[in-house]
Amino acid sequence: MQRFVIPHNHEITKEDRRKLNGHGSVILWFTGLPSAGKSTLANEVEKRLVTSGVRTFILDGDNVRMGLCKDLGFSEADRAENIRRIGEVSKLFINAGCIVLSAFVSPYRRDRDAVRALVEPGEFVEVYVQAPLEVCEQRDVKGLYKKAREGVIKGFTGIDDPYEAPLKPELIIETDKMTLGQGTDRIIDYLNSKNVLNSK
Ligand code: ADX
Repeated sequence: MQRFVIPHNHEITKEDRRKLNGHGSVILWFTGLPSAGKSTLANEVEKRLVTSGVRTFILDGDNVRMGLCKDLGFSEADRAENIRRIGEVSKLFINAGCIVLSAFVSPYRRDRDAVRALVEPGEFVEVYVQAPLEVCEQRDVKGLYKKAREGVIKGFTGIDDPYEAPLKPELIIETDKMTLGQGTDRIIDYLNSKNVLNSK
């Protein structure tokens, strides 16, 4: 396809928006097995941030799949496209000066690394939300592990579809060993250590 797309250089920059908001902007990328606790943790971190005056937005698997990605399923190619779109949207939120909390199974390393490559160094914070499969399956928040075991759902992550754990995530939160409050503290401490929450 021949395309003539010439981006316009708008005058207000990411730095201007960060200055206006009084804090930095990054993607907190929560990856892990279904029922590992990604959405719960993202929700708690967001509450903490908003309470202290930080502008945030949550992008969440099940919600994004109702709209932006409702044409996609769970094949390897569809998951890659799902993560690619979410990566692009997350980048827009970084440019808007927000902390975006993206909670997706995102089982393939190369899809996550592609999002990392899309933004500047330090802007992609990979949070591996970790719990053993047996624990996730026991929680079975949405009853989908049961359906996968019964063969009603095919290609379910952790059962008959792969999950590639991050090799060098910025953070690992073990949700079977830490309380929700402790996990949240770890993430907030990390953001503080990188001066993301400071006034710019
Ligand atoms: S991803 O693999 O493309 O990153 P995403 O996070 O958007 O997945 O969606 C995962 C959610 O979809 C799960 O929390 C679960 O509720 C639901 N789901 C339905 N089918 C599957 C499947 N085959 N594998 C994983 N999750 C599934």
